[in-house]
Amino acid sequence: MSEPAAVAQGADVVASIRDVSKLYRLEGQEVRALDRVSLDLRRGDFVAIMGSSGSGKSTLLNVLGCLDRPTSGSYVLAGRDVARLDDAALSRVRGRTLGFVFQSYNLIPQLSVVENIALPLAYRPRQPGDHGRCLALARLVGLADRLGHRPTQLSGGQQQRVAIARALVNNPALILADEPTGNLDTATSHEIMDMLAALNRAGRTIVLVTHEPDIAARARRVVRLRDGRIESVTENPADDRESHTGDS
Ligand SMILES: Nc1ncnc2c1ncn2[C@@H]1O[C@H](COP(=O)(O)OP(=O)(O)OP(=O)(O)O)[C@@H](O)[C@H]1O
Ligand SMILES: [Mg+2]
Repeated sequence: MSEPAAVAQGADVVASIRDVSKLYRLEGQEVRALDRVSLDLRRGDFVAIMGSSGSGKSTLLNVLGCLDRPTSGSYVLAGRDVARLDDAALSRVRGRTLGFVFQSYNLIPQLSVVENIALPLAYRPRQPGDHGRCLALARLVGLADRLGHRPTQLSGGQQQRVAIARALVNNPALILADEPTGNLDTATSHEIMDMLAALNRAGRTIVLVTHEPDIAARARRVVRLRDGRIESVTENPADDRESHTGDS
């Protein structure tokens, strides 16, 4: 049996991992969290990563997100070989190239909506358009009338929309989301997916981890992991990718 076809070539490849393995050694026991995984993400891709608990989903997302280095294999992100960069260089790449959305939003409680959106900009010199850009992103995610609110004064869905705006502020090549709807009810989950789908239609490249088949159905492709390996890569039919908000 040959490896599932997850690999493509071309200039529009945003991220490319080849034969990536991640080994953990704990008290003499070895865990192969990723086992020779190869995957290409093209500009405008929208990939859902699925698989049972412990199959390696977060490990793969952490490697893609330059939060973790592979034990072996290569990773080229936005044209740079990042697999062997040191921590400082990795964090610069993260800040410039990636946007993150987390299950628990990870907003700073003391900061307002617009200040949270601006956070990733703190790692480079201020530019004249910065504030306007944050306001425009707040509008984009439907929070123009909540600019001064703090995270505790927002619903879960609104907090996740702040997180999405924050993920966009650096104009990242790639958006990575680990179970972004994991803490949300079904209707709100689909609102968040509507937003990610609209960003994807506008050309954003997105990878998300989810346990929920109806969330994965809204991506363009589904990558299934099993025991650290890619078990299958499937394309979702366009019709199935529509919002199902309000369906019962
Ligand atoms: N820091 C670590 N040290 C040792 N083993 C680890 C570490 N992180 C992950 N693992 C192991 O690697 C495997 C993959 O873990 P990972 O977190 O990627 O799974 P997952 O698919 O995200 O699971 P879940 O759906 O539960 O979040 C698991 O067997 C886990 O126990
Ligand atoms: Mg996980």
